Amino acid sequence: MRDDIERVLIDEAVIQKRLDAMALDIERDFPGGTLVVIILLKGALVFAADLLRRVPRQLEIECLNVASYHGGLESSGKVDFLDRHFPEVKGRHVLLLDDILDTGRTLHAVERRLLEEGAVAVHTAVLLAKDKERAEEVNADYVGFEIGDEFVVGYGLDYKGRYRNLPYVGVLKPSAV
Ligand code: XMP
Repeated sequence: MRDDIERVLIDEAVIQKRLDAMALDIERDFPGGTLVVIILLKGALVFAADLLRRVPRQLEIECLNVASYHGGLESSGKVDFLDRHFPEVKGRHVLLLDDILDTGRTLHAVERRLLEEGAVAVHTAVLLAKDKERAEEVNADYVGFEIGDEFVVGYGLDYKGRYRNLPYVGVLKPSAV
């Protein structure tokens, strides 16, 4: 698996250090009450597991299965909600976690749906944000790292379902694509 990586973009120790700071920001910004956290599957799983264990407050954790990439290198442009049930968010403050902000379609679609379902406010946190023009006007409230506009894998992010368990974020060799 590591042989398929051309270069490490963000190494493990740097990610873990950044998560300490993000968790402090979240803790400071949401002082009281129970916060509903929604993890977008599957990409945000690893990020969420490491980040949320650093937030020492009452959280209710939910997951949402959405698809926009369908396993390849390009976003399909359409966001599908794959779950039969939607988390109960009426009257709640929601923190939405995703792996990466790319075109912005995913966060935009999920945020809109959460507000339609009655969430009081939706805040968003992403591990990565690509430095590019977005198809939708959306900004994450918490961003781990800004990266260039290239396809990355690892730390939850996949190519055709693989590489999610790499502990760092890296770029694939052309021969692996
Ligand atoms: P949008 O375009 O909706 O994209 O902001 C968000 C979703 O697209 C996937 N994505 C990637 N997955 N490497 C990946 O493995 C990437 O470079 C990449 N860019 C976008 C990801 O699932 C994200 O939630």
